Amino acid sequence: MAKKSTLVVGNWKMYVTSPDVAKKFTATLRRKSRAFAGVDAALAPSFTLLPTVVAGLKGSTSKVGAQDVSEFTDHARTGEVSGAMLKSAGVQFVIVGHSERRAMGESNDIVRTKLKEVLAQGLTVLLCVGERERDDNGTYLSFIEEQLGSALSGMGPIKPGKLIIAYEPVWAIGKSAQDAMKPAEVREMSIFIKKTLTQHLDRAAALKVPILYGGSVEATNAKALIKEGDVNGLLVGHASAEVESFVAILSSLAK
Ligand code: PGA
Repeated sequence: MAKKSTLVVGNWKMYVTSPDVAKKFTATLRRKSRAFAGVDAALAPSFTLLPTVVAGLKGSTSKVGAQDVSEFTDHARTGEVSGAMLKSAGVQFVIVGHSERRAMGESNDIVRTKLKEVLAQGLTVLLCVGERERDDNGTYLSFIEEQLGSALSGMGPIKPGKLIIAYEPVWAIGKSAQDAMKPAEVREMSIFIKKTLTQHLDRAAALKVPILYGGSVEATNAKALIKEGDVNGLLVGHASAEVESFVAILSSLAK
């Protein structure tokens, strides 16, 4: 049976700042990514760059996502961007519960509200989970269980393709490849997350949910993380900020 494509999502955070750079990035990505069989690239730019990236990737296989969404749906919310606004901007997925947002006070309850809103708009949720630190007695496992359980509680069936989980241990984010999680540990977590998902979703549906790893992914460790880590893709931060390093990751994974 043909193995599903590997998904590589670039989370631009606030690294890419100008429409000019974003435009050149998408043009290069379009040109080069045709060569990467079996790899699907996606980008999550800041809100201000969404129109540029949506236009730049139109008609390509690469999807565009937002880095966050408002938990609110009513109108008098200065500075917020709702799921409906993202949908009309042309995004296909939304990152929810990134650790950098959780660190700014986003609770599990807020994450669940956002997740519901993204699904209600018919968009795909890229739900981030990950422990802040590791200990010897496995507390981090219950932490992940709690994050997943809370986000999915009362959700009912989720349509195929509408949920992606990104496992990003906070202690491994924003460093370099040698500080990333070891592929064998990623594999353990991928199994654990799958098992946890089966407690909240229909078993067959749960086993189909793609699991990504994120945290200091670079071109030098991407392949091992996919192969030995047994994940369906990667969520890439700093190494997605320059098109060369992002393309180097895609090319390292090409079949
Ligand atoms: P990093 O970020 O690749 O810079 O570690 C990953 C993320 O936070 O999504």
